[in-house]
Amino acid sequence: MTTAPSAPSIKPSVAKTASGRIFNFSAGPGCLPEEVLQQIQQDVLNIAGSGIGILEHSHRGKNFDKVLAEAFSDFRKISNLPANYQILFLTGGATSQNFMVPANLKSQDQAADYITTGYWAEKALEHAKIYGALHEAGTSKDKNHSYIPTDSQIKYSGNPAYIHFCSNNTIYGTEWHEIDASGKNTWQQRDPKAPAGVPLVCDMSSDIYSRPVDFTKYGLVYAGAQKNLGAAGTTVIVIRDDLLKRKPRELPWMLQYDTFAKDESRPNTPPVFAIYICGLVFKWILAQAQDGRHCLDVLHERNIRKAGHIYAALDSTAFYKGHAEKNSRSLMNLTFKCPTPELDDRFCKEAGAEGMDGLKGHRSTGGMRASMYNAMPEDGCKALADFMREFARKNG
Ligand SMILES: Cc1ncc(COP(=O)(O)O)c(C=O)c1O
Repeated sequence: MTTAPSAPSIKPSVAKTASGRIFNFSAGPGCLPEEVLQQIQQDVLNIAGSGIGILEHSHRGKNFDKVLAEAFSDFRKISNLPANYQILFLTGGATSQNFMVPANLKSQDQAADYITTGYWAEKALEHAKIYGALHEAGTSKDKNHSYIPTDSQIKYSGNPAYIHFCSNNTIYGTEWHEIDASGKNTWQQRDPKAPAGVPLVCDMSSDIYSRPVDFTKYGLVYAGAQKNLGAAGTTVIVIRDDLLKRKPRELPWMLQYDTFAKDESRPNTPPVFAIYICGLVFKWILAQAQDGRHCLDVLHERNIRKAGHIYAALDSTAFYKGHAEKNSRSLMNLTFKCPTPELDDRFCKEAGAEGMDGLKGHRSTGGMRASMYNAMPEDGCKALADFMREFARKNG
């Protein structure tokens, strides 16, 4: 890693970091830490003094051996991952897990349960259909995916092969959180209460490593890298050994998780650049540890503060309407609307002119979406909150 991040200079009118970059609120590919980008610049030309850039090394040579080994071990360090879980770097995006999960984990006859709390969770169910019986155990469709169902709203089938859910709904801006006895959101990891022995499968694409995570609660987790882990081109899988052994049907070699587990994710040429970038991001995550506090605790606290600036601006006026119900709000993607679509357009345009980009909402929801992944500096969130207050004052 090279230098520490330089302090952003927000004024006079365009919010920018010292290196001239503006604040990128894109939902994915999302912003990356500047230190990581600087390291990539060097390594593309010449990695580790080898005289050859990372893109040009053999995926079986010693330079990539080291990159891959460190990526695996750093990922394990971040989450204290036990030895009976394997990490895989796959291609095909998180969307390919929609078919790989059922193909590898369930037979045609045995049902799998799905909780559909947003666009990607619905797609996961839809794409799994060719693999036979499925059960929709819970959904938030009735209120346009503005909330996460309570345990009592979820009804599991008899003996599902697994339960699939999505921990953070990138498009609607909702996230699973533990709610305490007084009904307060603790911002901690919450999972569906799976019947004993049934593995949980979680799409963690847009909130992995944004908060402390206990992978031992899951049978399989997947996450497209392009939000909190790195760049587009690889999807990270965390899978428990017993699920690797399931063989519910014959599958092409390259569609089996086991193929990748047996060969360190390189049965063929893997996405070397995307894996290398994940490795740098894992080191950046580890480097966030502070004053004896675990790196994920530090990131989590920072993410709560970051989102807090913007939610406070949202709640300070009736001008904006947030999509998510308060206890289901996401720390990563914040969705809201102005009173009219014309004002939404003006908001995005004027925010863009002030150095805040990527705020246009998903085509299926409209409005705005501010994505505040780990690499978004707190100053970016403060700048957006200030802008929101001023925009509401001028246009309200
Ligand atoms: C939660 C979630 N799941 C799945 C996907 C699809 O990812 P990919 O484009 O890598 O297939 C996305 C993309 O934004 C997402 O946010």
